Amino acid sequence: MTQDEMKKAVAEAALEYVQSGWVVGVGTGSTANHFIDALARIKTRIDGAVASSEASAERLRGHGIQVLDLNSTGPLPVYVDGADEATSNLHLTKGGGGALTREKIVAAASEQFICVIDETKQVDYLGAFPLPVEVIPMARSHVARALVAMGGSPVLREGFRTDNGNLILDVHDLRILNPVELESDIDHVAGVVTNGLFARRPADVMLVGTPGGVTRIVP
Ligand code: A5P
Repeated sequence: MTQDEMKKAVAEAALEYVQSGWVVGVGTGSTANHFIDALARIKTRIDGAVASSEASAERLRGHGIQVLDLNSTGPLPVYVDGADEATSNLHLTKGGGGALTREKIVAAASEQFICVIDETKQVDYLGAFPLPVEVIPMARSHVARALVAMGGSPVLREGFRTDNGNLILDVHDLRILNPVELESDIDHVAGVVTNGLFARRPADVMLVGTPGGVTRIVP
């Protein structure tokens, strides 16, 4: 089974967490794209979706699924999204696609966060995948110095702007033993919009695609 087949299988398994009449929070990335394609099959039963990126909004609309503004929906019952790395505590690194800020907003506004990954994303400690940090452009150097002081090696994501018009620093060389603390520490640097650690608000359920099928992990 290929990695993409595992992503597809796990994305389809997440449909089980969607009920009729709901507005569904939808993430970003290749696994989330499989979820959007699966959601299209039940589109007449849901009331619409809130997207965590322009790319996901476009894909949802392409399937004829109504995309709603989070300000008009109130809290969402469920958010389904992938991750770049995940621990058994359901702490995540996200933002490989650069959508981390909107992803964190939709996750925060959702009662249940269902994280859908293939087994290659499972790790004992976060940090091998460079941690994305969204930064206000004028603060780029200031934030980079602060990240170096925290032990990281930030690299500017060349030629990339987020949906919010900001920059991404990808922070290498971190072995993240306390993701809750590091998430707060990075967020407190002036000029940081968001960082890609999802530890203060981890996933509630993790579905893992493996060659043997989909497994479910809860804290
Ligand atoms: C997008 O910004 C990310 O947080 C994605 O959720 C993450 O990169 C997972 O992407 P894939 O599903 O493409 O592996």
